[in-house]
Parts: sequence; structure tokens; C-alpha cells
Amino acid sequence: MNPNFNTVDLIRKKRDGNKLNASEIRFLITEYTRGNILDYQMSAFLMSVYFQGMDFDETACLMQTMKDSGQVLDLAHIQQPVIDKHSTGGVGDKVSLVLAPLVASCGVCVPMISGRGLGHTGGTLDKLESIPGFRTDLSVKEFKRQLKTIGVAMIGQTAEIAPADKGLYALRDVTATVDSIPLISASIMSKKLAEDLDGLVLDVKSGNGAFMRDYKKAKMLAHNMVQIGKRSGVKTVAVLTSMDDPLGVNVGNSLEVIESIEALKGNGPNDLMEVTFALAEAMLRIAKIKGGRKLLEQKITSGAALDKFREVVEHQGGDAHIFQDYSLLPVSKHNIKVLAPKSGYVHAINTFAIGMLLVELGGGRRQKEDKIDSSCGFKIYKKKGDYVNKGEPLVEVFSSYVRGAHTKRTAVQDLYTIKRYKVKHRALIRETIS
Ligand code: URA
Repeated sequence: MNPNFNTVDLIRKKRDGNKLNASEIRFLITEYTRGNILDYQMSAFLMSVYFQGMDFDETACLMQTMKDSGQVLDLAHIQQPVIDKHSTGGVGDKVSLVLAPLVASCGVCVPMISGRGLGHTGGTLDKLESIPGFRTDLSVKEFKRQLKTIGVAMIGQTAEIAPADKGLYALRDVTATVDSIPLISASIMSKKLAEDLDGLVLDVKSGNGAFMRDYKKAKMLAHNMVQIGKRSGVKTVAVLTSMDDPLGVNVGNSLEVIESIEALKGNGPNDLMEVTFALAEAMLRIAKIKGGRKLLEQKITSGAALDKFREVVEHQGGDAHIFQDYSLLPVSKHNIKVLAPKSGYVHAINTFAIGMLLVELGGGRRQKEDKIDSSCGFKIYKKKGDYVNKGEPLVEVFSSYVRGAHTKRTAVQDLYTIKRYKVKHRALIRETIS
């Protein structure tokens, strides 16, 4: 441990609102990753950043240190444009599962390094791991080999790639320090810039199911990440999308895998497809691949995108029979339908609370060591703007235990605000920053 720095002094410095210099940030992150700074001290530091923030230079340095905590990939052996996408997180956000194979089937190489569920939001890795046998822990060598052979791989941060983020991400999840612009920016960009990308598309969400509820804050986050990408020479585009409803119909790990496969079979719900196409089109534009939306739709109709996802599952050890037989995926047996207490238009759904209810059912984590239950979740029958008749189902709850489903009935009903008059819909795709 470098004797020139004292962890407590640095926590205090940030706690009191002062700017940390590059060596101080490097010390904190490097020593934490080596195990020399313990979780309780890092938690205090993260909370200080949460309240006091970081300026752009501090954020860029935090990102760089996290990125340099591991290996930076060399993908020079790949001929195609190398482009990834990342989302700031939402509820029911299974876009990566649809988009990665879809865009790869158009000739883009997609080296996707994703995260686990964080706070109330789901994580791509947890979803993929609900597929029996699926490995998200490929070594860098395996990851690179797969990119060369099929043009897409979906893994988590390994001990080799951005290990600092792996530790910090898990700690933030259980210390209420997720929704911070510098911490999210550094977390996302450290993983992504370690991938040796030509381009990056970010889905920056705002609304009651996003970390950044406020649109202005989401826009600041988007600008911050686009600037960091630009500084590193990676073409970065941020698409600002709304997260006022769960995306699509299913929420919960294995349920979202099923919905993603259905989307690749051409049966995706409109909102999921709108976001997927907007992000995929931005990736194609960076890759200078012509055809846009038409090409993407054609890859779905022809089955090419679905075949690509099957290849991903097979290459990563998963059971590809799931594509024909969803019963091979873990899906809870105890389901109940929660009915509308009155007729009217759905004015709002507390999307954050749906994410937290999923955590309560076991589908997310309260502590970083928690094992998750992939089989539980929700089917959302009524979304914002829909008309519902009294007694019609709003949501179906899937739980591994009978009481789980029943105790959530009232909680779920309370998530809906139903009124007699219509509500104005907010655009799903709000703005693009490049
Ligand atoms: N996704 C990430 O990878 N990191 C965050 O901090 C939030 C969302």
C-alpha cells in the first residue's frame, strides 16, 4: 500500500466536497481492487461521491483507472466494425438479448460485456444465466475466439476486464449509491472502453423506472459519457429513451429470455422493438452499414437474427433446445393474476416498485452474495395509456412459492394509477446525442 496516501483522509476530502487529484483516485481504486481497502471504507467513499459528485476530470480519471485495473482487449484480428451498446438500466430491459444477435447478423462485431442486476434494474448476465448451462464467464481468449467465429459474445466483467468495476458495481448495488452521474459514467465507460471498440451506442433512460428519473440529469449523464468516449477516440452516440413503464411485457430473468426469443421470431412487443431498432440503427450508422431499419427487419423475418442468438447460446454452453421448448427454462409455477380494482385509463405505473418487488420475490439481490431466483417475475398486461375494465388482469405474478405470489397482490394493485380520462403518452425515443 502506498504510504503517501491515507484512505480515511481521502474519504474525508471527498466527503467535504473537495476535488481529488488523479493519484488519489488511482490509489483508492487500485488498492480496493487489490483488497487493501475494505468494503466499508469504499462504501463511505462511494457515498461521499454520491453526495458531493465529481467533476469531468475526476470522472474521466476514475473511468481510466477502472479500465486500467484489468486487461484492455486487442481486437485487431477482427475485420468487421466493432460496436457495442450499453443501457443505463431499467425494468424489463431485455434489449441487449435481442439487439446483440440482430446487429451481429448484419455484419457488425458485438463484443458485449454486461452487468448483473443493479438495485431495482435487471441485468443482462442474470437473464442469460437463466438459460441452463449458459456461461457468461468466458476467458478473454475464449471471448476473442468466439468474436472471430460468430461475431458476437455476451459476457460479464471477468477478473481480466475492468475488475475494479466488478467489485464497485456489486458494492454500489447494496449501498444505495447507484444513481450517481460520475459513478454510472465511470462504471459503464470503463467496461466499454476496455473492449477496443470502434463505436458505442448508449441507451440512457429516464423516468420512474430508471436510475436517472429526471430527464435533465439523464441528459447530463449522456453528455458526460459521450464526452468520455470522444476523449478516448471511440465514436459514441447516446439515445435518450423513456422508462415510465417496464419495457415489453415480461419482467424477470427467464421470462425476459422467452420474450427476447419471441422478439427474434418476429413477435416482439412494439415498445421493445422501437427501442431495439433505434439503438441498432445507430450502431449500423456508426458501422457505415446501409439498410437501416429495413435490413434489421429483414434479419428478423429471415430468421438470421434468431439463428445468431442460437449460435451464441450454443457457443457459450447453453441448452439450445430452449428455442423450441420454453419449459426447459426455469419458470415459477405459482402464478396469480392481479385484477384492476376499477375501470379507466392507466395513468402511471410505479416501475421502480416493480423492480423492487422482483428483488423481494428473489429475482434480484439485496446483498452482493445473494443467489437469485431466475424463475420469478411479472407479465405486464396493462401499460401506461391503456384502457382497463374493472376485473381485467393488470399483471400476472410468477413466484416459486405460493405465499410469494399472494402477498404481492395488493402491492401490485397499488402500483397502478387508474383514472377516467386519457393520458398523454411521452415519446419512447426522446433525443439522440452524438
Ligand atoms: N450499468 C452499469 O454498467 N453501471 C452502472 O453504474 C449503471 C448501469
